[in-house]
Amino acid sequence: MSDAPKPTLAPVIAVDGPSGVGKGTLCQRLADRLGWHLLDSGALYRLTALAALNREVALDDEAELAAVAAGLEVEFVASRDQPPRILLAGMEVGVELRGETCAAAASRVAALPAVRAALLQRQRDFRQAPGLIADGRDMGTVVFPDAGLKLFLNASAEERAMRRYKQLREKGLDANLMSLVEEINARDSRDAGRAVAPLQSAADAEVLDTTSLSIAEVCDWALRLAARRFDFPKIA
Ligand code: DC
Repeated sequence: MSDAPKPTLAPVIAVDGPSGVGKGTLCQRLADRLGWHLLDSGALYRLTALAALNREVALDDEAELAAVAAGLEVEFVASRDQPPRILLAGMEVGVELRGETCAAAASRVAALPAVRAALLQRQRDFRQAPGLIADGRDMGTVVFPDAGLKLFLNASAEERAMRRYKQLREKGLDANLMSLVEEINARDSRDAGRAVAPLQSAADAEVLDTTSLSIAEVCDWALRLAARRFDFPKIA
């Protein structure tokens, strides 16, 4: 055995919670503020689902779906203050990925252990200096159990549906609040009820109910905890 010192791993802030709770916005702001990398792990499940739909792979063919996940040709093009552009085999797919068809299919493929295993190392590879903000469902429990800070956000299904409803209306898209609540409830129970890596907060996570909080308040909470946990030169 060599006595050579192990290379220090870059620090990680793991941010978990259910759909529509505001993790994406929080993570984007934290990454911009701290100058850290960003992992949108949900996008990897959505990309697997999209690639499978495009290739007409059945959403219950676990072995074939795992092969699709392992072979994803994906590129995240980071840009400041904006969600990264996402390219699948060189094609921009950001808008398609956010659609309900992809979301529902992603939730099905994410329940399959072989798909999760196929995506594990790809997620860990995002851990690079100076640090990583990891957004998902199992960041603090499975992917980065040694994360220096684990945050778990929650909010009522009604509030999350209302946020999504407003987002869709602002984009001029049709939306029905009742069916959004139903979709969110269905996705929550699939994500929390699956056998592998179910949605749950890590025992050592800091938990926040964001139902009546603004995004600025949630960011301040996260930055305060981060400043206490990590040795930043300065967080303005
Ligand atoms: O966060 P999102 O809505 O983009 O996630 C899409 C789906 O992938 C959702 O059903 C939850 C699932 N997911 C997961 O199982 N594990 C993760 N780390 C991230 C997302």
